[in-house]
Amino acid sequence: MRGYYFIIIFSAFAVACNYSVSKNEKGNNISGGLDAKKPITWTTVQASALDTCVRCHSGANSPALSSKDLVIEHYDDVLNEVISKSMPPKSKGYVPLSACQIAILKKWQELKFPETSTVTIGSLPECVSSSPVDVVPISALPATYANLEAQILKPYCLHCHNPDSSDFEASAILLSPYDVLIAKKNLLKDGANSKLVKILKATDDDRMPPPEEGAGLTDEEIDFVIRWLEAGMPR
Ligand code: HEC
Ligand code: HEC
Repeated sequence: MRGYYFIIIFSAFAVACNYSVSKNEKGNNISGGLDAKKPITWTTVQASALDTCVRCHSGANSPALSSKDLVIEHYDDVLNEVISKSMPPKSKGYVPLSACQIAILKKWQELKFPETSTVTIGSLPECVSSSPVDVVPISALPATYANLEAQILKPYCLHCHNPDSSDFEASAILLSPYDVLIAKKNLLKDGANSKLVKILKATDDDRMPPPEEGAGLTDEEIDFVIRWLEAGMPR
């Protein structure tokens, strides 16, 4: 057991070091807040190209796109709809997918729909911003719940913490929408010393997202969470 913890702590360190190096390199900036270091996996596809789709395609509208197998089954339709900009529906206020999001979706198919991979988002030319000007770093984003949801909760948490999650324990701990989250006073009180921030910074298997999901939040992302807590959790 002790050896096991050692490996986790050690690899968390290795990951953390990797991150701080990469974040200082300009070329790793990705428009839309995606992290260049993230591998092209189902989790990444879900959090980038397909993040809006499940709001409507979890049963209410056909096809259901709420699991990896369903997305694979309907892959051609999904790709056609996003390339033609028919989905997500502009009539409902959604913006079409970016070239980077579409490239992630295509690469995922090319790699045969992996759960893990060594190909990163940053290796896709569509995803590396040619001009640093159109990249808004998370440190410059207003500390609102909308940004917390888009930058942190969706990419890292909500695929487990949602009422339909196949992870039974996680499905009972809901972190969205806004009113549900801010009611969790024990989790959120005390800003930088809150239980939430401790969980995000943990180096053992209490860390969220759980270590088997890969890297956790970057320092900048944790700073954003602290900023939001200390601002009084604005909507
Ligand atoms: C606001 C709700 C909403 C969102 C968000 C949404 N869809 Fe849809 N989608 C619909 C509705 C409603 C239909 C069926 C009516 C239609 O074809 O316009 C549909 C139809 C589809 C179809 C079938 C089209 C056909 O002609 O058979 C596909 C495939 C699809 N959506 C994919 C997606 C993908 C991929 C996303 C995310 C990038 C997405 N949708 C986001 C509401 C939504
Ligand atoms: C792979 C699925 C998964 C992901 C991703 C995930 N969680 Fe969890 N989370 C769980 C499970 C399972 C539990 C309950 C068992 C446990 O505490 O380890 C849990 C428990 C929790 C708890 C309760 C901990 C406690 O001690 O009471 C909080 C708070 C939490 N998660 C927040 C988050 C946040 C915030 C994120 C994103 C940054 C996240 N989780 C990402 C699966 C996940």
